[in-house]
Amino acid sequence: MSDTTTAGAVYADLRGRSVSVTGAARGLGLSMARAFAAGGCHVQLIDIDGEELDGVRARLAAAHPEQTIEASAASVTDPAAIGDALGGFQERTGSLDVMVNNAGISANAPSLDLDIELWKRSVDINLTGVFVCAQAAGRIMTAQGRGVVLNTSSMYGVVAAPARAAYCASKAAVASLTKVLAVEWASAGVRVNALAPGYVETDLVASLAAAGRLDLTALRSRTPLSRLGSPGDIANLALFLASDVSANITGQVMVSDGGWSADGFGITATAVTGQ
Ligand SMILES: NC(=O)c1ccc[n+]([C@@H]2O[C@H](COP(=O)([O-])OP(=O)(O)OC[C@H]3O[C@@H](n4cnc5c(N)ncnc54)[C@H](O)[C@@H]3O)[C@@H](O)[C@H]2O)c1
Repeated sequence: MSDTTTAGAVYADLRGRSVSVTGAARGLGLSMARAFAAGGCHVQLIDIDGEELDGVRARLAAAHPEQTIEASAASVTDPAAIGDALGGFQERTGSLDVMVNNAGISANAPSLDLDIELWKRSVDINLTGVFVCAQAAGRIMTAQGRGVVLNTSSMYGVVAAPARAAYCASKAAVASLTKVLAVEWASAGVRVNALAPGYVETDLVASLAAAGRLDLTALRSRTPLSRLGSPGDIANLALFLASDVSANITGQVMVSDGGWSADGFGITATAVTGQ
């Protein structure tokens, strides 16, 4: 994924807003951070990989010299560090308008062999990490009387797949958590929605394909729209859900998967042609 990936949509109301993105050093988090910066937002990048984060921050700050672009090396599972990071960002920019809880890990192993430590780590980062960051942001946003929280679930939080027990269960729990927070904080002016990407062509997916561990042709063939998602697709969804354009949407899990999860056949389109 090149450094020039940006989403196409820009919403005027986002200009000047303060947006914090977790897991922002690479992949979808980086793509969303770039899209918010391109839309005129102040952006806080949070990631456990401080070294990669510094380079990302420097490039983004150079491209957007008029905006606050800052980085915080922290784990989403650390309530004190996340509370400090978000509180500091709010103080420096005047508000915290959008919290994107994107950091997550995948864990593929047959359930009979799944190491309990990998299960715990997946739940800790994918679910508890989302709660920790949502809670810290929610405290600021409910006091402000406005804000948007976006949690990253997955197509695999909506439909199942073998050998992904920890991943699917943690992402389905994020979908449920999203609904709870949405109904709890609606009266305080805070909207909470989840992004549920299908397979997205990130650097990681491209490298797995290059190593022969993922068959992109078969994935495209299995997908009704015959394409994988792009990081820009997910960034555009985040911009839409962050903007006042979606003011009446809360508690939803928005799937962007080219129709994968709608297709009950579950086999490649070419295999059923003519039936
Ligand atoms: N890429 C896809 O096809 C896809 C599909 C569906 C859902 N998702 C979800 O989207 C999110 C981003 O995926 P991606 O493909 O960009 O992943 P990625 O591995 O490319 O990036 C994840 C980032 O999160 C950071 N991170 C990991 N643990 C952390 C922690 N404890 N605290 C702070 N940061 C941490 C990593 O350092 C990394 O920079 C994940 O939640 C993933 O489950 C991705």
